[in-house]
Parts: sequence; C-alpha cells; structure tokens
Amino acid sequence: MSIQVPRGTYDVLPDQAAKWQAAEEKIRELCKLYQYKEIRTPVFEQTELFQRGVGDTTDIVQKEMYSFTDRGDRSLTLRPEGTASVVRSYVENKLFGLPDQPVKLYYMGPMFRYERPQAGRTRQFVQFGIEAIGSKHPAVDAEVIALAMDVYRSLGLKKLRLVINSLGDTESRNAHRDALVMHFSPRIDEFCHDCQTRLEKNPLRILDCKVDRDHPLMATAPALTNYLNEESQDYFDQVKAFLAGLDIAYTVDPNLVRGLDYYNHTAFEIMSDAEGFGAITTLAGGGRYNGLVEDLGGPASPGIGFAMSIERLLLALEMEKVEIGEAADLDVFVAVLDEASRQDAFRLVRDFRANGISADMDYAGKKLKAQMKAADRKSARFTIVLGETEIAEQRAGIKTMETGETDQVAFADMADAVKRKLSGEES
Ligand code: HAM
Repeated sequence: MSIQVPRGTYDVLPDQAAKWQAAEEKIRELCKLYQYKEIRTPVFEQTELFQRGVGDTTDIVQKEMYSFTDRGDRSLTLRPEGTASVVRSYVENKLFGLPDQPVKLYYMGPMFRYERPQAGRTRQFVQFGIEAIGSKHPAVDAEVIALAMDVYRSLGLKKLRLVINSLGDTESRNAHRDALVMHFSPRIDEFCHDCQTRLEKNPLRILDCKVDRDHPLMATAPALTNYLNEESQDYFDQVKAFLAGLDIAYTVDPNLVRGLDYYNHTAFEIMSDAEGFGAITTLAGGGRYNGLVEDLGGPASPGIGFAMSIERLLLALEMEKVEIGEAADLDVFVAVLDEASRQDAFRLVRDFRANGISADMDYAGKKLKAQMKAADRKSARFTIVLGETEIAEQRAGIKTMETGETDQVAFADMADAVKRKLSGEES
C-alpha cells in the first residue's frame, strides 16, 4: 500500500505555493507598515503552557492537542495556537522591560489541532497572528482589528463581516457566569456530558458547544453584554468609537464568546459572506487577554491579538475568484542542438542567473523541437539555440518570442543584451 499524507494534512504543490508566497508577502508588508515585528517560537511547548494559557475546559485542551511524552519523560504538545507561546516568550525574555510598550509582535507558522477535517479545517494549518502586549488603550484594539481587515482587503476580498463583542472584566464575567448557571441549571440534564461539566467549571463554554448548539436554551441564554459593569461598557464604547473613526463597519454579536479561556473585554471574528464557503465561515478570530501574562508568571501586562489561517484566507480568495501569486514567467530558455553545445549553454544559463535574469535549459536530452515546446510551456520571453556554428563563433541569436525578431549577440554580451531588452520591455 502506498503511503499517503496523514489525515487532515496536505501538500502545497508549486502552483498553490505561489499563492501562499503572495499572501505571506502581503502580510509581512502590512506588518511592517503597522510596525509589528516577527517572533518565532518553537513548534512544541510544555503541555502545561496550553493547559494554563488556553484553558483546561476548552475543546482545544481537552480534545484537540497533539501531546506526547519525549524520551526524557516530559509532556510536550505541538502548539495548537500561538498566543500562549508568544506570551510565554514575552515573560521569559522580559520583553515587559522594553521601553516601548505595547510590544507588537507577529508570527506565521504551523499549528496543530486534532479536529474533524473538513473544508477550511485541517489538523495542521498555518496561522498568521499578531499580539500587542503591554497596553490597555482601546485604540490598540482598533489597530489590531484594522490590521486583520487590511490583510483581507488588500488582497482583494470584499465579502467580509466583522463581528465584535465585549466579554467584560472579571467582575462582569462573574455576574454573567452566575446568570448562566441560573439559566442552564434547571435543564442541564438535557445537555451533553461536556456541558454538564462546563456548568460548574466554566458555563460560558456551554454557549460555544458544537453538540448542543440548537438547544432552545441557547437562544435565550443571558447575554454578556447585559452584565457589563460601567468600566467594561465604557471600554467597549471607546473601542467602537475608534473603529468608527477608522470607518471600519462591524456588528455586535452578544453570543460571540470565542473558544479559548484567556479572553476578556474585546472579542472579535471576521467572517466571509462569499458564496459556496461551506459550514465554516470564520476567517480570523481574536481578542483581549488582560490576565494572561500574569497567569503565565509575568507582571500585569494587558494584551490583545488575533490569528487567521492562511488556508481559510486562500479559500476565501478562491470563493471570491480573486487571483494572487501569478507564476513568474521565464526570461530566457537556452536550447541545444547537440550534446557538445551543452557546456556553453550551461555557462550562459549561469551568466544570466548571476545577472538576475531567470534562465533554464533542457536536461532531458530532448530534440530541438521538443525543447522549443518546453520553452513555450514555460512562457519564455527569449530563446537562444546553440549548435556547432554558435559554439565556434561564440555568438548566437536571441529570439524575442513575442515578435519573432532575432538579434545576433556575442556570448560575452548576452546577459547585458537581455537585460536591455527586458528593461525596454518594461518601459
Ligand atoms: P482561534 O479562533 O482558535 O484563535 O483560531 C484563529 C484562526 O485560526 C481561525 O479563525 C481560523 O482562521 C484558524 N484556524 C483555527 N483552527 C483551524 C483549523 N483546524 N484549520 C484551519 N484553520 C484553523 C486563536 O488561535 C487565538 N490564538 C487567536 C488570538 C491571538 N487571540 C488573541 N491573539
């Protein structure tokens, strides 16, 4: 039996890789504009980091982690998300001591969750995320959301919907928690086993349950927004005002709770309204986590961030029929009439490349006609054919494929000649 990729994973083949590169490039460019700097953390961490960071009662920690014991008997986990790692690093490397706070970081890399694979949901996926740690100014919340929206918009997506909510501070959350317990307790035996445990440990998680999503009590559950104390409400209002100031449209969804435990105050998701998207329409999610740095052993430092998978970004582009990452055309194809010409052809190809001109040749021993067909498939702008005469004279014709025009040029001047032609083409 032939070996296949593990379930929930996939290969990115060259055609598709060009799209990935284009998306990644745009993202890095935007991070520069917004002054977020890249951070790279390990792909695996101590399991405890996610238990404490993401939260023991979340689906991610309870059901989805790829955890293993290494040869030194340590429990390690392939990271299911990036925030816990970034915060760990912020604490471990004392980034809270840097003079400029918030520290603005971004990351891009593979994450792992043992989920049921479907369109837009894989077991290994690549997240781009940002974290701004060290400020509780509501303008930072708006900046983080603006950057996320900018990624999608600048790549050409239009059918976007920003949904926001406030989860409030600890006091507001406790008041809401009590209300949830009152609401669900009388009929909790109609809920799944997980929800029954959640009722005691973290009733907010019930609202996020995939199994009991359609239970009538879900729709009538007390909304967090009604339990926000004055300070939390005021904070939320300021975030909304900053968003309005940036002309970023949003809707408030009081049921948006997010699937990770570290959130408070602002929570948001960006959805795609593109047709044919399937069941999963969330492109990105994020929010504020003012207690997480302390939970992970650092000084009180409020943070906010978001993450999006590149997979869902590319899926949205496909649904909206936006093309990115066109394959780069080939500048020069050097064909040979016989094996004896290969040495010179090889050297010419090297010279072109050294001069920043993309060049290729045949390595399959094809006849001239087949080589020219290959040059065509590669959309070569220029072709050069080398045979006995060309080698003897050390000059050959550079054929412009579009016009059929051919110029005779000495080998030594070839790179310069092609450069001139290319820049003439562009002007
Ligand atoms: P999350 O909502 O769990 O949040 O994931 C964020 C994004 O990662 C999702 O909106 C989706 O684009 C992508 N994603 C998650 N799971 C999968 C999957 N199985 N396949 C494909 N894409 C997936 C977080 O991870 C938080 N760390 C976000 C954050 C950063 N909050 C604050 N800072």
